[in-house]
Amino acid sequence: MSKSVPHGGKLINRINLDEAIDLSRPFVLLDNLEISDLELIANGAYSPLEGFMRKADYESVVQNMRLSNGLPWSIPITLAIDKNKAMELKVGETINLIQDGIVYGVMNLEEIYIPDKILEANMVYKTNDMNHPGVKKMFNRNGLYIAGPITMVSKRKKSMFESYYLDPIQTRDQFNHLGWKTVVGFQTRNPVHRAHEYIQKTALETVDGLFLNPLVGETKPDDIPSDIRMKSYQALLENYYPKDRVFLSVFPAAMRYAGPREAIFHAIVRKNFGCTHFIVGRDHAGVGNYYGTYDAQKIFTAFEEDELGIKPLFFEHSFYCNKCENMASKKTCPHDSRDHVILSGTKVRGMLKNGEMPPKEFSRPEVVEILIQGMKEVYTYEIPKGVGNEKR
Ligand code: ADX
Repeated sequence: MSKSVPHGGKLINRINLDEAIDLSRPFVLLDNLEISDLELIANGAYSPLEGFMRKADYESVVQNMRLSNGLPWSIPITLAIDKNKAMELKVGETINLIQDGIVYGVMNLEEIYIPDKILEANMVYKTNDMNHPGVKKMFNRNGLYIAGPITMVSKRKKSMFESYYLDPIQTRDQFNHLGWKTVVGFQTRNPVHRAHEYIQKTALETVDGLFLNPLVGETKPDDIPSDIRMKSYQALLENYYPKDRVFLSVFPAAMRYAGPREAIFHAIVRKNFGCTHFIVGRDHAGVGNYYGTYDAQKIFTAFEEDELGIKPLFFEHSFYCNKCENMASKKTCPHDSRDHVILSGTKVRGMLKNGEMPPKEFSRPEVVEILIQGMKEVYTYEIPKGVGNEKR
């Protein structure tokens, strides 16, 4: 497979920074998840979506993992309002989409509908347990969804790392410029540890380039903040990756923690950024014990490879083996699990917070130093107890 075609055939562009803004219009306030979705619809990362989903698409996505026209799509992209706001709005009018007093987008309001959130939880997240961070977020949002095409009229100011925010048209240009015909995308919400590095580099042995595309939108409070992670990615690339084979830019979406469903979504979006291949390892986008270790790989059998248009590359749970003196997985290592260096996310975060270095077999010292320093400066509150902390 080479040259990735955007999902649905063409890259959507719904950015118009010259559009006149009429402040007298009705408005809807966006939360962090919604504003990142607005941005990603507008810049084509969510092609073929041109707006927040109408009921027919929403229901079809929830039940069948497809848009109403049959195209694969696994995560609802919705905009929520409450009853009072619904009474102020009229279908057919143009509304402003606002955060912190700034109009970021406008929407042609086509529909207001009541979602079946219990069904959404059970189908998309495979649970309606409020301890699941994605389910909790979904239920805590307002109870009505509004739909219609959007235009983004101003861009959000990015605090740090502004140059790493690239639209799909720009990443595609970069890959062309680098001469890459095949590109493997890598999603992460964590620092890149040795296991991540191992699966990335194993994949890179068979394609032209690696697109390191960390998610930097909203995550749960005990995930490591994205600005600390960004510094650690830079240090890792500087020291351990060939410059002409890796490209780093960010994915500003919010994390849903929807495991298998989110793996499909992550793959489709990376196709829009120009990838031909996508890495899915163990418990991709999972949290706690809600999903089986390889559920996010098995779900790909629900689709034909050509309808997804991006080739998933599956990896076993990987680790450093003290006897092999190498990175490995059960597929390649015959030794007992006592010889394997495996640390849970909770354990690692605890060590970093206490200024302790995880072993170099687990994480590169250059990465760990940045994480420890970052945690000292930014992560001053207690790690909240709760969901997922046992495992991730
Ligand atoms: S995720 O929520 O973004 O998926 P994470 O950053 O931990 O979480 O994982 C990024 C990618 O690496 C996912 O595809 C995940 O399945 C994979 N992965 C993480 N750790 C391992 C591991 N030890 N072995 C194999 N794959 C892994």
